[in-house]
Amino acid sequence: MGTFTTPAQTREGNEVKVVAFNASARKDGNTAILINHVLAQLQNEGIETELIQLAGKKIRGCMACYKCRQNKDQRCSVKNDVLNDCIEKMLEADGIILGSPTYLANVSTEMTALIDRAGFVARANGDMLKRKVGAAVVAVRRAGSIHAFNSINHFFFISQMIVPGSSYWNMGFGLEKGDVDKDEEGIQTMKNLGANMAWLLKKLHQ
Ligand SMILES: Cc1cc2nc3c(=O)[nH]c(=O)nc-3n(C[C@H](O)[C@H](O)[C@H](O)COP(=O)(O)O)c2cc1C
Repeated sequence: MGTFTTPAQTREGNEVKVVAFNASARKDGNTAILINHVLAQLQNEGIETELIQLAGKKIRGCMACYKCRQNKDQRCSVKNDVLNDCIEKMLEADGIILGSPTYLANVSTEMTALIDRAGFVARANGDMLKRKVGAAVVAVRRAGSIHAFNSINHFFFISQMIVPGSSYWNMGFGLEKGDVDKDEEGIQTMKNLGANMAWLLKKLHQ
């Protein structure tokens, strides 16, 4: 560990934790803003949160070596990037938020690498993320966000995770950093998502 600047937090008792990944190439951009609106709701409900920014971090795509299926050690065999740190964070959390900007009507390259590799390792290890709660968050200028949203949800559903809804599909509109804060419906969607995620996590862990 130690790849991320945010220190790993110690979990006490039955504390519920949500980890969020921002797969935008822009740290603290629109995707991060949207994620933080969800996290604020979770924090209001006493849920511990952590945001991991993938911007500037090395994360490559799946090598299709299939070694995870032989090793079954909850790890990817490619060990020279941040992927195994991300998996470790996912394993210790009760809820996982995956946030991506829309690039060419899909998720970012970083998000593709994360969901391909973490998804394959999870399947190779008896669906090790099963029944964790998952939520997708997508930033978009104009079009393609529903495809990006679906791409992330494919990861949750094949991993046997539980996905709460919101008052709209989880997307916010904006081009420049900060523009999403002008999308009132998008922000409300994030707040409702956070409230629903907190409600669900409490039902599952009370
Ligand atoms: C390489 C690239 C591709 C993009 N493709 C799309 C697209 O297909 N549709 C769209 O509406 N916006 C597209 N955008 C705009 C971003 O989705 C938008 O600016 C988003 O708010 C960025 O989020 P961020 O601030 O978290 O990086 C693209 C931006 C980049 C850099």
